[in-house]
Amino acid sequence: MIVNGPCKLQGEIEISTSKNAILPILVAGILSDEPIKLYRVPAISDVFIIQEIIAALGMASERKDDTLFFSGRLNSFSPPFELVRQMRASFLLMGPILARCGEVRISLPGGCAIGNRPIDLHLKGLAALGAEIELEAGNIVARSKRLQGRHIYLDYPSVGATENLMMAAAVAEGVSHIENAALEPEIVDLASFINKMGGRIFGAGTNVIRVEGVEKLHGAEYTPIPDRIEAGTYMTAIAASGGEGLIRNVIPEHVKAVSAKLIESGARVSEGAREIHIARRRNIRPLYIKTLPYPGFPTDMQAQMMAYLSRGSGTSIISESVFENRFMHVQELQRMGADIRTEGRTAVIRGVKHLSPATVRASDLRAGAALVIAGLTGNGETVIQESEHIDRGYENMVEKMYALGADIRRE
Ligand code: EPZ
Repeated sequence: MIVNGPCKLQGEIEISTSKNAILPILVAGILSDEPIKLYRVPAISDVFIIQEIIAALGMASERKDDTLFFSGRLNSFSPPFELVRQMRASFLLMGPILARCGEVRISLPGGCAIGNRPIDLHLKGLAALGAEIELEAGNIVARSKRLQGRHIYLDYPSVGATENLMMAAAVAEGVSHIENAALEPEIVDLASFINKMGGRIFGAGTNVIRVEGVEKLHGAEYTPIPDRIEAGTYMTAIAASGGEGLIRNVIPEHVKAVSAKLIESGARVSEGAREIHIARRRNIRPLYIKTLPYPGFPTDMQAQMMAYLSRGSGTSIISESVFENRFMHVQELQRMGADIRTEGRTAVIRGVKHLSPATVRASDLRAGAALVIAGLTGNGETVIQESEHIDRGYENMVEKMYALGADIRRE
């Protein structure tokens, strides 16, 4: 991806459906043999990967425009190794496959390179529901005749573990409580989808989720929520460029933390029912940001905010409390002249007058988005290599940025 800066973004764009909502919802679809129909499915590679995985498990899926149909019976309990390794979200398959087949065999998670992201909370929760778990030649194998509803306490409000356990508990025998559950909007969306399938999940969005197991779940149709991280990314890009723009199809409530920080830095944000207008004219004021589980400042916006704060006056501090190694974008921003020092999970950013173009590498989709934001404000052409990472979770970023007036292309 090649970005020719500087440019002031101007105009409006439509946000796509949330990657982190639709991935668990697609996985939850395997909890029923009946047809599932999902609307406004984004054309992002993580969705294609999960489609391939559930097809390999026997669930044929068919896409017509942005509608996805799938149904069928699970006829394998072991998702293909080479697909699972590409995406950590594949691990969400464990709960549903175990619940439906009584057994699941899955290779240890791979996915984006942000530290070693263990899965101990997933496994501890599934064991609490009665699963026998073993490690066999690099695969996790879990077995259980019928999962039993239980009280589960999560040591950390893990999004994936909450989703995995909610899906497993949905068809377990009896009632489960998931304590210290994650509060993310994607959890609420998954719960309402499963409830549309006939599930009985209460309290999603609070830190105690009650799940009354049911015998069987039926098919459903659903439109997942818009992507709050994509929305935050474009808000930050518009603010970084000193332009103004209207973000459509966003739920302002879901991006509150990002809006608050952009306002604190000097941008102007006004919220409609399902849209946000943002502009920045004055200097970018330095910020202190600490990433936290929802509703705190989202870790998935950390790299983008760092690119934004790299320019301007003063010294900002960002501490990354969610992942232990999510600063791969720092060295790339440094190549563009950003003055950033990291100390463990803390980065100190001193604003510089402007960034200079360079050839940089996207290590994951959010780092890639940060480099596009940095490239918008550099004087000249920034070349972002491995931009396929961006396509994992940003639908048509080149087209959307182009519609906002960016000089951006892909080679
Ligand atoms: C989800 O990942 C998102 N992915 C991530 O978005 C997001 O960064 C993360 O939640 C936090 O909001 C999807 O929803 C597909 P976690 P997940 O379990 O579920 C530790 C993006 O850019 N942990 O909440 O993997 C873990 O190591 C991606 O769209 C354990 O220790 O996140 C991490 O430090 C990146 N043991 C922290 O918890 C476990 O069993 C948060 O992980 C599970 C997690």
